[in-house]
Amino acid sequence: MTETEMTQEYDAQLMALLEAVWGEGFMSPGGTAEVDRYLDGIDLTGKQVLDIGCGLGGVDLHLVRAHGAARVTGIDVDAALIERARALAQKHDLGKAIDFRGVEPGPLPFDDASFDVVTSKDSIIHIADKHALAADIFRVLRPGGWFVASDWLAGYEGEPSAEMRAYLVAEGLDFGLASAARYREALLAAGFHEIRIFDRNEWYREQARLERERLAVELYDRLADEVGKDFLEHEIEVWDKMIVAVDQAQLCPSHLRAHKPN
Ligand SMILES: C[S@@+](CC[C@H](N)C(=O)[O-])C[C@H]1O[C@@H](n2cnc3c(N)ncnc32)[C@H](O)[C@@H]1O
Repeated sequence: MTETEMTQEYDAQLMALLEAVWGEGFMSPGGTAEVDRYLDGIDLTGKQVLDIGCGLGGVDLHLVRAHGAARVTGIDVDAALIERARALAQKHDLGKAIDFRGVEPGPLPFDDASFDVVTSKDSIIHIADKHALAADIFRVLRPGGWFVASDWLAGYEGEPSAEMRAYLVAEGLDFGLASAARYREALLAAGFHEIRIFDRNEWYREQARLERERLAVELYDRLADEVGKDFLEHEIEVWDKMIVAVDQAQLCPSHLRAHKPN
């Protein structure tokens, strides 16, 4: 499969809307401040970092500029996003420090022990087999390396609430949500130690309302022109459904970290 034949789940309209709400290069909430929070205490200076689901690349620019990573490899299954991420890195003169690569879903296409740190921001929600994912992350990490990420977790085991189901249907993205217990189990089975999962649901309850307000007021006219009024209205409805799911703690943005023993 060539890069242009790859998946494109996030279309141009959705990308434009997400970037307007979340900032240049970001398709997930909280921007660089949220990246700093989940990386708290992890030193990336001079390190080789893999970012799974790099999207538009905003996270990766930040890992080099603010955290001193020596080299970041950002991978994504969406060719259009990879192209835009490359352009963003060029624009900021970071093309040499960051390698954006289109990949197919499945095993990570890297040798064992290739990276000091594996990170991901709100992307592994799309990968349903958490055991295979955790084992593969463990494999590509060097001994002593860290997996440090943020992701959308399920606040339930088994079936979601009716409201959560309504949100998932409205969102229409290909989600492979898992609970904190399932992530913990997968990371443990892979061989990780020092597993920590930190629930950011309370933070996002407030944040999601601010985002919804910005879409409906401050950004409304600009986005109605850019993405069309119908699409914008649909996305505001998605936000309304998401806010209910977040309030019910069915949808829990969370920080995850785990250490590969030396
Ligand atoms: C919500 S976006 C987050 C992008 C970026 N990390 C950010 O925070 O702005 C999720 C990304 O995961 C990518 N993705 C989905 N399945 C993937 C897979 N199996 N491997 C790598 N990336 C994947 C999507 O194409 C999308 O760019």
